[in-house]
Amino acid sequence: MEAKLLEVKNLSAEFNSDKGSFQALTDISFTINEGETLGIVGESGCGKSLTALSIMSLLPCGGKITQGNIYFKGRDLLNLSDRQMQKVRGNNMAMIFQDPITALNPVHTIGCQIAEVLMIHKGLSRGQAMEQALKALKRVMIPMAELRLGEYPFQMSGGMCQRVMIAMALVCNPELLIADEPTAALDVTIQSQIIDLLAELREESKTAILLITHNLGVIAEMAQKVAVMYAGQIVELGHVKTVLEKPLHPYTKGLLESMPGSNHSQGKRLHVIRGSVPDYMNLPDGCTFHPRCSQGMELCKRENPSLTSITEGHFVRCWKVKAQ
Ligand SMILES: Nc1ncnc2c1ncn2[C@@H]1O[C@H](COP(=O)(O)OP(=O)(O)O)[C@@H](O)[C@H]1O
Ligand SMILES: [Mg+2]
Repeated sequence: MEAKLLEVKNLSAEFNSDKGSFQALTDISFTINEGETLGIVGESGCGKSLTALSIMSLLPCGGKITQGNIYFKGRDLLNLSDRQMQKVRGNNMAMIFQDPITALNPVHTIGCQIAEVLMIHKGLSRGQAMEQALKALKRVMIPMAELRLGEYPFQMSGGMCQRVMIAMALVCNPELLIADEPTAALDVTIQSQIIDLLAELREESKTAILLITHNLGVIAEMAQKVAVMYAGQIVELGHVKTVLEKPLHPYTKGLLESMPGSNHSQGKRLHVIRGSVPDYMNLPDGCTFHPRCSQGMELCKRENPSLTSITEGHFVRCWKVKAQ
């Protein structure tokens, strides 16, 4: 039996703003075992980042978890104090973001920023921390690391800044790395270098990864399991091979058919899922995907299906699939 590292259970979250409140996440459940990589995919605005930020306890202002549990090695993170959670962030889990240049502090050198993490979390002296920071830069294969230590983020390219972010995230050897579209802001050639780097570091450190990406190719290459999100819910969850080769949810099928070069799109015109992501302030009744679904039934308009196990480890939220 693989050991569970993270278990997100029936998590829901809402946002309150001057325009009103809306439910941003509904009944999110998944687990990540030690050393495992889980991918999350779905259109922009479907709640991928908010899921990640909930786990880190970093929901933006106005956002609130209304239901559910987040267990990390059996401990519910939602019961921790801010101080306890601060220790977990950095020590046990760390996150890297889409835009590395804005995620770094512009007024401190790269070396100081990495060293600070070590001074706070590991209690190292400045000298020891700087030594470790240099090793961390070498670990992510930054050329001329000694020189880079004294540089500021604006002096480096986007790809180099993302390497620095990865170095900083991994410096305390977290058991879980959350990577939120880590290559979305980078040039295509640099993107694959960063993915290769993550894959190498994962081999070395056996860190579990929650990998959020638009790129199903990256999921196929990196992840063991994948969760497909739509309008704040997981609509399909399972082993990568199963979900990518035998998708069951109409939305997953649509995503795969819209991807150039996938088995599902070969020889066909690229498919576009009709309609657009629903307005959260005005979510449709029943299954949130039904207005865009070509296989919808009457029941789909009335009741939201639950995420149901179809075969071992393969979960789908769809009335039609359940009925088959
Ligand atoms: N700070 C915020 N205030 C209000 N709404 C937000 C905020 N952040 C995200 N949202 C809304 O929550 C939904 C999910 O956002 P997000 O998790 O960022 O999507 P994704 O990462 O999948 O693109 C979107 O509709 C988005 O507009
Ligand atoms: Mg996002």
